[in-house]
Order: sequence, then structure tokens, then C-alpha cells
Amino acid sequence: MRYKRVENADMIVESSPYFVKEPKNFKNKWHEVFQNHHPIYLELGMGRGDFIIQMAQEYPYINFVGVELFLSQMVSAVEKLKNLHLPNLKLLHLDAREIDEVFGKEIDTIYLTFCDPWPKKQDIKKRFTHESYLRLYDKIFKKDKHIILKTDNKGFFQYSLETLSQYWYVFERVSLDLHHDEQPIENLMTDFEKRYYVEGRPIYYVDAKFKN
Ligand SMILES: C[S@@+](CC[C@H](N)C(=O)[O-])C[C@H]1O[C@@H](n2cnc3c(N)ncnc32)[C@H](O)[C@@H]1O
Repeated sequence: MRYKRVENADMIVESSPYFVKEPKNFKNKWHEVFQNHHPIYLELGMGRGDFIIQMAQEYPYINFVGVELFLSQMVSAVEKLKNLHLPNLKLLHLDAREIDEVFGKEIDTIYLTFCDPWPKKQDIKKRFTHESYLRLYDKIFKKDKHIILKTDNKGFFQYSLETLSQYWYVFERVSLDLHHDEQPIENLMTDFEKRYYVEGRPIYYVDAKFKN
């Protein structure tokens, strides 16, 4: 997907108190960054940050880290945060492939929200639920593994259920229509999700765990 380039995105993002400039310096020291030992939840590919910001507001005793590859996307998040005070939120400009260089075994939950589905066969390794990513996540999960995935893409969802189950994850909850499930699921919407919800598109959801 192509996103609009924002001029001076680097300066705008770097001037935000939520932005962590050299995150690799804090590997195994994130409790120092947050100044507490609360659980840390990651969102990979946070985009414009709607979801992670709402989560940080809703759950002050959980620390949240939003990871995003494109600075221009991060500008929106930084702007939304201007008048907020959320000591439990940090934003990283980072390729998800490098998360093991930034975190030791410090992460409790990973959110994969509407990540790029990479439908072509030659791009399969770029999917956030490819086995190589699942192995990467192993390096940063504190103890038990916990992934929550939401997507509008049926093919990507099916693929993810397969890779997760082949990797011994157990599904605590699966929904083929998150917003109209008979048993409601606690949920805050991402930016993409809000658009799809208005369009009436079903959202696929899985809450997957592996208990060590
Ligand atoms: C389809 S958007 C979804 C954004 C947001 N999660 C939402 O639901 O509104 C996917 C996001 O993942 C980001 N992304 C793609 N590949 C990435 C990578 N390797 N590391 C970090 N972010 C990545 C993109 O820049 C984009 O912002």
C-alpha cells in the first residue's frame, strides 16, 4: 500500500515526547523507559496510531509500544497525542523485522492489526504471521506467547490460522465477524477498522496463545 508523504515527517515525529529515538539502546531495559514493571503490549504496523492511543488511554496499567515503518504515517499519531498525557505509551520508527534487536524477553502481547496481507506467493515471507516472524516473536515474548490479530482479508486470515496452529498456538477466540459476533468481544477499533466497519465489511479476529 502507498501512503501520502508528509513533509518534515522526521522532524515532527522526533520532536514528540512519545517517540523513542534509539530504541535498540533500551533492549532489556524497557521497565526503565516506562519506570515500572507493568506488562508491555506491542502493535506492529500501528499506522496512524488510533488503536494504540485508545488502548493506552483505556488501560493505564499496561505499557504500549506502537511500531511503524513509515514516518509519514506516524505524524498523525504524534499529532493526536499533542494534548494527551500518556506515560504508558511509546512510539518506535522501526521495521518489525528488527524487533528482537529492540526487545529482550519483555513482551506480553503482540497486536497484528490489519497488517499488509502480501497476497503474492513471492512475498509470503513478509507476512507478519509467516513462521520466520513467529520465530522472531519467540525471542521477545516474556513467557507465554499471546497474539491478537484482526484483518479484513480472508486469505491472510486463513493463512494466519494455519501458521499459528502449526506453531502450536491455541485459539482462545476466533470470530469471522468481530463486530456482529453473537458473543461480544471487547474491542477498540483501529483506523482501518473504522473505515471497514462503516463499509459493513466483516472483520476476522483471532486471539491466540501458547502457554509455556
Ligand atoms: C494496512 S496498515 C494498518 C494500520 C493500522 N494497524 C490500522 O489498522 O489502522 C499497515 C501498516 O503496517 C505498516 N508496516 C508495513 N510493514 C511494516 C514493517 N515491516 N514494520 C513496521 N510497520 C510496517 C505500514 O506502514 C502501515 O502503516
